[in-house]
Amino acid sequence: MRKQLLGLCLALVGATPAMANDALPSNLLYDASRPNKTIWPLPAKNMGELKWNDHRQDLSRWPTLSYEDKRPTAKPRKVELQGPLNGDAENGKKIAMNTQRGNCWACHVLPGDPQGGTGGPPLMNVGSWGYTDAHLYQQVFDRRVANPDTFMPPYGSNGVLTEQEIRDVVAYLQSLK
Ligand code: HEC
Repeated sequence: MRKQLLGLCLALVGATPAMANDALPSNLLYDASRPNKTIWPLPAKNMGELKWNDHRQDLSRWPTLSYEDKRPTAKPRKVELQGPLNGDAENGKKIAMNTQRGNCWACHVLPGDPQGGTGGPPLMNVGSWGYTDAHLYQQVFDRRVANPDTFMPPYGSNGVLTEQEIRDVVAYLQSLK
């Protein structure tokens, strides 16, 4: 009787008893024992069944917020831009628009963006804001130095973009007037 009551309460508050999800990995986003795999709902032909699939990129450099992802998060890193920028704005644009790389427009509005992201400030004319290359380089490398609570990914500290790629992105940002 007690058990039934408990079940009823769980049903009422919408909680799922632990058993029900046993078939699914507890960490849906990242499983360190399965590098390059991510769980992704398969389309309708599989009736939405969740299965481990090869992901299009190695996700292991993107720590998740999952409680099960025990890898240490890269520490916020302050960097100095060395020498002249020497960035290739065209390449920077490609990186910014590429959903597998910068994916900047997930959060920012950029020129040519079909549907601007609203998570961060629009960057349509960031090149006319008077920021130095060094400032922008730091923001893309690791914005947590400016705002410890930011959810902008630290592209440099995570090793998702190389130093040269960040220089290219900065050259692109500076070209947006
Ligand atoms: C997941 C969301 C997200 C992504 C992806 C993202 N950003 Fe941001 N970005 C933010 C947020 C939010 C802020 C501002 C508030 C803060 O610090 O959290 C910000 C701030 C910035 C700033 C600082 C503006 C200033 O006034 O100093 C720049 C520059 C910037 N982002 C560039 C980029 C570039 C370039 C990319 C891609 C390589 C990118 N962002 C990807 C969320 C994101």
